[in-house]
Amino acid sequence: MILCLFCVYARANALEQIVPQPRQAELHKGSLRVSGIAFRCDPALDAAALKAVGQFAGQLGYVSGKTCTISSPLGLHEALQSGKLKGMIFLQDDNLEPEAYSIVVASNKAVIRANGLGGVLYALQTLRQMLPAAIYGSHIAEREKWVLPCCEIQDAPRFRWRGMHLDSSRHFWSVDEVKRYLDVMSYYKLNRFHWHLTDDQGWRIEIKSYPLLSQIACWREGTMIGEDFSSNDHIRYGGFYTQDEIREVVAYAAERGITVVPEVDLPGHMLAAMSAYPELGCTGGPYATWTIWGISKQVLCVGKESTFQFLEGVLSEVAELFPGEYIHIGGDECPKDEWKNCPECQAKIRELGLVGDERFSAEQYLQNYVTKRIQDFLATKGKKVIGWDEILEGELAPGATVMSWRGTAGAKEAAAKGFDAILTPNSHCYFDYYQSGDHDAEPLAIGGNLPLEKVYSLDPLEGIAPEHTHHILGVQANLWTEYISTPEYLEYMLLPRMLAIAEVQWCQPERRDYTRFLRVLQEHEFPVLDQAGYNYRKQTVN
Ligand code: ACM
Ligand code: ZN
Repeated sequence: MILCLFCVYARANALEQIVPQPRQAELHKGSLRVSGIAFRCDPALDAAALKAVGQFAGQLGYVSGKTCTISSPLGLHEALQSGKLKGMIFLQDDNLEPEAYSIVVASNKAVIRANGLGGVLYALQTLRQMLPAAIYGSHIAEREKWVLPCCEIQDAPRFRWRGMHLDSSRHFWSVDEVKRYLDVMSYYKLNRFHWHLTDDQGWRIEIKSYPLLSQIACWREGTMIGEDFSSNDHIRYGGFYTQDEIREVVAYAAERGITVVPEVDLPGHMLAAMSAYPELGCTGGPYATWTIWGISKQVLCVGKESTFQFLEGVLSEVAELFPGEYIHIGGDECPKDEWKNCPECQAKIRELGLVGDERFSAEQYLQNYVTKRIQDFLATKGKKVIGWDEILEGELAPGATVMSWRGTAGAKEAAAKGFDAILTPNSHCYFDYYQSGDHDAEPLAIGGNLPLEKVYSLDPLEGIAPEHTHHILGVQANLWTEYISTPEYLEYMLLPRMLAIAEVQWCQPERRDYTRFLRVLQEHEFPVLDQAGYNYRKQTVN
């Protein structure tokens, strides 16, 4: 009797331990042994999906110590109907939504259906999540129980935008580190990588038509020490991604179902570019890539046509490198002090007939002009823009998507005005904030207090009128890196909070349960992260 109770408990865990929790998951009696199992793939699956299944089969064969064969026979659907087929069967199913999948495990076979790469990848992640954590490792683990529980899973995400951001400007992350970041995103079914590539403290992307960006703008002459804004460690700091490296990251992400969304932050946060091309500023400089954190008052001069030539040149190359439909153009934290005193910016304001009113200054309307001009330019390249919620100030032109970071007010306003919006409120999604109120016990961070439970508690549609919810594309967490300079610390800030945001992004509200989540973190996800070699915060209760 005791043994039997134990079995029920253990088998229930295999479904409960799936993070993020599937839409529907039902446990049946029995299990399917998968070590050495034969994989059979519908030839109608696309090449990337077949490759992903092949990699999974290879990994399973390796860790379980029993090679799995893989084939793509014709007539798989018919053979399945005859009831004779055994093994792990992957089928293309045109009736499913693009990111949806189903898994039915019986004692002699598992049948996985998906419509395209996304669903296949998510089904594979769910299968991994039901297996021993050793599936994420690189060691042979023959003694583990390589079985799947008999079950039926029907799954699809709640939100189509499931993003994670990385700031590569304040600190630079190597291509290998970025790939590790993408790997762990893919484990938990995130699908947008927002890559913050430019800022006051460093320009990180090679632009062939502006070579000084990767000769001058990617360097800073030292970095402030700790929280002392008057200090400088005098260690030259820099780095950039070549266009080949960018393409490599984009392809690596795509294989994992992740679209890379590059950010070129403008017209503020541009000091690094101005250090290389001082004519971009209102005063003409000289400028130096910033060695301190904060918001520089020195911003692009948008009274000059040459500034737009620069932006269009840069964005043309960016649009070529990143195949996704969106380019993020920043728009946050752009002080207007210099524009107020710049003859060219003021002449532009007069030429455009911009007049301040009781709510917004003429200079604010000038930023709207910049946003609209860049939006129109990127439309000629087939791209849509995203901007931080400051782009809503003044008069935002139709077609832009708003990323709401100063709380959720930006998303509410955007959706009510008919704009698409993505939720990334600093109250719940800023992973550069401390993970506990006990700051002394934590490594130095930017401030705030964002414990795991608070991340998990985000209700993305709260306060959004039902008739506007279709404008909410999804949820994203951001990881700014002013105070984060090593990969270990980066992972510590990311994990396990990213697993909490994954459930917010993927799960229907009724499938979220913080007590279960905490339990499976300890029982299953921490072992997964250990196997995959990630650093993470082990203490989950603050
Ligand atoms: C931001 O955190 N400045 C978007
Ligand atoms: Zn100016």
